[in-house]
Amino acid sequence: MKRPAIRLIGAGALGTILAQALRQAGYVMEGIYSRRSAAAERLAAQVEAHQAGTLADWEGGGAPVVFCCVPDDALARVARQLAQLPTSWEEGVVLHTSGALTAGVLAPLAERGAAVGSFHPLQTFTGISTPDVFQGCYVTLEGDAEAVKTGSRLARALGARSLVLNPKAKMRYHLAASMASNYLVTLMALVGEVLSDAGIERQQGSALVRPLVAGTWQNLQQQLPENVLTGPIARGDDETVAGHIEALQQYLPHLLPVYAALGAETVRVALRGGKIQAEAAQAVLDALHEAVEPRDPMF
Ligand SMILES: NC(=O)c1ccc[n+]([C@@H]2O[C@H](COP(=O)([O-])OP(=O)(O)OC[C@H]3O[C@@H](n4cnc5c(N)ncnc54)[C@H](OP(=O)(O)O)[C@@H]3O)[C@@H](O)[C@H]2O)c1
Repeated sequence: MKRPAIRLIGAGALGTILAQALRQAGYVMEGIYSRRSAAAERLAAQVEAHQAGTLADWEGGGAPVVFCCVPDDALARVARQLAQLPTSWEEGVVLHTSGALTAGVLAPLAERGAAVGSFHPLQTFTGISTPDVFQGCYVTLEGDAEAVKTGSRLARALGARSLVLNPKAKMRYHLAASMASNYLVTLMALVGEVLSDAGIERQQGSALVRPLVAGTWQNLQQQLPENVLTGPIARGDDETVAGHIEALQQYLPHLLPVYAALGAETVRVALRGGKIQAEAAQAVLDALHEAVEPRDPMF
């Protein structure tokens, strides 16, 4: 099957790697556009694109496939700008890469006859990413049937797997994805802060917990969370939990709410895995609850 030519808007973190990966997979990059011409021209030179600049520099017909890799809050405006171009969209597929928004944000293009969809790589892209970052990761898709079909073919060409989402589930899907990537980073930052407060400097603290985190991660690759949980809550050891709370109260009181919230969720995980009985769970929950909402001493 003939590979469609591609135009890409947004020469940022994801747009750069996506354009490079598509080029490496043998696609012709017809044009690269961005808010700043210089950024578009730089990327266009790397991927041998024929056209580069801002959307004002767009020439010729609508490309068979257009990727919009702009920030979420710029998508509606870019869709309106594209829809106003003096070009036919009837044969075109327009995909955006937002994880939170649905294909609905591209409505002005759908009204002009384009098949619209979202193409969200469930991966993190930074200045140090390379095009092989797509290998083995998932790309989630939703939108018009033609857009989903094209998105799935492109994902496969990049070495990624695809999964079709219900648009109503999209925000919850993105919530989960953000928690998996961002909150894991935040959790590690908190661990570093606690160790640093205990006199272990940041680099040493990071080296100290790395094998523990790697071991836990390895277990999680094979089993569901409730099957691999260990530690004081999984043992129903409310005295140790009380010890943690005391240490927090004395040294790091600002971390009490997050410890209590994650502790209560850990109790739910332990119950789901059959690790503790209801009575032990209640004792831990009571200790956590009291740590953040102490009982009035008058009662
Ligand atoms: N980064 C990730 O890890 C990641 C992962 C999955 C999905 N995504 C999604 O990919 C999209 C882009 O994210 P990103 O992280 O790549 O953002 P980014 O690094 O900020 O890049 C966005 C690019 O869009 C361009 N842009 C902004 N407004 C524009 C406009 N009105 N017209 C044309 N170009 C415009 C910017 O242009 P200039 O640079 O020229 O100013 C910039 O190059 C978002 O929807 C995000 O949710 C990102």
